This record gives sequence, C-alpha cells and structure tokens, in this order.
Amino acid sequence: MDKLKGKVVLVTGASKGIGKATAISFAREGYRVVINFKSDQKAAKAALKECDRLSEGNILAKADVSKEREVVKMFSEIKKRFRRLDVLVNNAGVFDGSDNPINIKTFENIFRNNFISCVIVTKHALPLMKTGKIVNVSSIHGRLGYGRPSAIAYSASKAAIESYTKNLAKALAPRILVNAVAPGRVATPMWGNPGVAEQKKLGEAHLIKRMIQPDEIAEGIIFLVKNDAVCGEILTIDGGMSLVTLG
Ligand SMILES: NC(=O)c1ccc[n+]([C@@H]2O[C@H](COP(=O)([O-])OP(=O)(O)OC[C@H]3O[C@@H](n4cnc5c(N)ncnc54)[C@H](OP(=O)(O)O)[C@@H]3O)[C@@H](O)[C@H]2O)c1
Repeated sequence: MDKLKGKVVLVTGASKGIGKATAISFAREGYRVVINFKSDQKAAKAALKECDRLSEGNILAKADVSKEREVVKMFSEIKKRFRRLDVLVNNAGVFDGSDNPINIKTFENIFRNNFISCVIVTKHALPLMKTGKIVNVSSIHGRLGYGRPSAIAYSASKAAIESYTKNLAKALAPRILVNAVAPGRVATPMWGNPGVAEQKKLGEAHLIKRMIQPDEIAEGIIFLVKNDAVCGEILTIDGGMSLVTLG
C-alpha cells in the first residue's frame, strides 16, 4: 500500500458511478486524486468530500474530455498543481438511447465521448507521466461479438478502446503499463440508478444473478495499478455475463 502513497491519479468521469468509486478507492490508497467531471458540479463536490476524508490534496477538474481545448486547460491546472501524473484512468463514457445500426450522429457522438476522449486525454497526460499506469474502462460489449444491435455504436467504441489499449501498451511499455477493464452491468446512474427490483432484473443477465457494484470494478482497477506484470490486458469483470449465452 505504501508504494502508492502521495502519487497523483486522474480519474475521468469521477462525479458518479464507476469513476466515483474508483476515485474513492485511490484516495483510500493515499493518492492525491484529480476528479474530472463534465457538468454535475454537485455530484463532483460530493465525490471530492468523500475522497478528502481519506487523503489530502484532491481537486476537482471540470472538463468535457471529448473536447481537446478543455482537456488542455485541465492539464495546465494539473501541471501547475502537481507537476506529475502517476496514474490515468480513462473512465468517462456515455450510453446513447438512440443507438442503432444506421444512426450516424449517434455513432459520432459515442465515438467522440467514449473513444476519441481517451486518445485526447492520454495525449495530454503522457508529458506528465515519467512512469506509471493507464487503465481504460471498456465494456463487456466491446469484446468480440458480445455487443447487441441496440448498442451497436457503444459496442464498437469499446472494441476500439480494447485495440487502442493493446497497441498503446506496446508503444509505452515498460515505462508505462496500459491495461483495461471490461465490466458487465454495473449499478450506476448510467442505468438510471436502478432500485432493488430493477437491479435484480438486470442482474439476471449475469451468472452471479445480481448487478455488479461500482466498488467491484474499482477493485479491478486498483489491482491493475498495483500489479507490475500485467501489460496490455483486458480484465473482464462481468459476473459471468459473457458465458451465459454459451451454457
Ligand atoms: N454502468 C455499466 O453497466 C457499465 C458497463 C460497462 C462499462 N461501463 C463504462 O464505465 C464508464 C463509467 O460508466 P458509469 O456507468 O459509471 O457512468 P455514469 O454513472 O453515467 O457516470 C458517467 C461519468 O462520466 C462523466 N462524463 C460523461 N461524459 C463526459 C465527458 N465528455 N467529459 C467528462 N466527463 C464525462 C459524467 O460526468 P457528469 O456527472 O458531470 O455528467 C459522470 O461522472 C463508462 O465508460 C461506461 O461506458 C459502464
């Protein structure tokens, strides 16, 4: 645990859901956490408050990571404040209800928010990272053939993240190790904050017969950051969802 103390992590999309749980987990490990968010200042402040109970020096960084101009501004703040970055978690992402095979606007929106955003943030993070770790948040939908037609752009954007993760790992190792997590259905605001009954229904898609909790994804991300031998891997945390159709 000491190995992680005092280091700086940027978690994109950390005002809620998986990003918030991840930010709190890093604070618990003694990290100084940069909590990026797009618009929900109230939720971001609540995330900061929870992190501040666990570690010092945490900050909020409001920026739409799909816009390079805003990302440049965010990194000039990070540079001024910390002069370094040890870990980057590319978590921010969106799901779009208008996703279908012919909606080009949705493809463009999803690719910009889920994939190009990762490329932009990584580009501006690298000059601050001498060594360290990058973890991208993919999805079980991004694994070969696991998506569905009503999430066709979303699935393709996550498949792009997987390919990007592996090639980025080749480009940056051994200085910086790059990996990803591929979650199944996680109980977050992305699902509209599902209640107990709704979670039970959605959880039926998993072998574990429940939804995954954000903390359980955060644990996987912390594992990838602590481990120095995993490189270019996509860690599936899907409650067995990807096996369901095979059984
Ligand atoms: N939930 C799942 O079942 C699931 C499964 C697999 C993968 N994932 C992936 O996990 C990641 C997090 O999902 P989640 O369920 O935790 O989502 P969520 O609850 O909807 O939270 C999304 C977070 O991302 C931020 N965000 C969205 N677009 C952004 C942008 N352009 N710039 C900066 N921040 C942005 C939001 O900020 P504001 O609050 O300010 O809007 C919020 O903090 C996503 O990449 C998602 O695709 C989720």
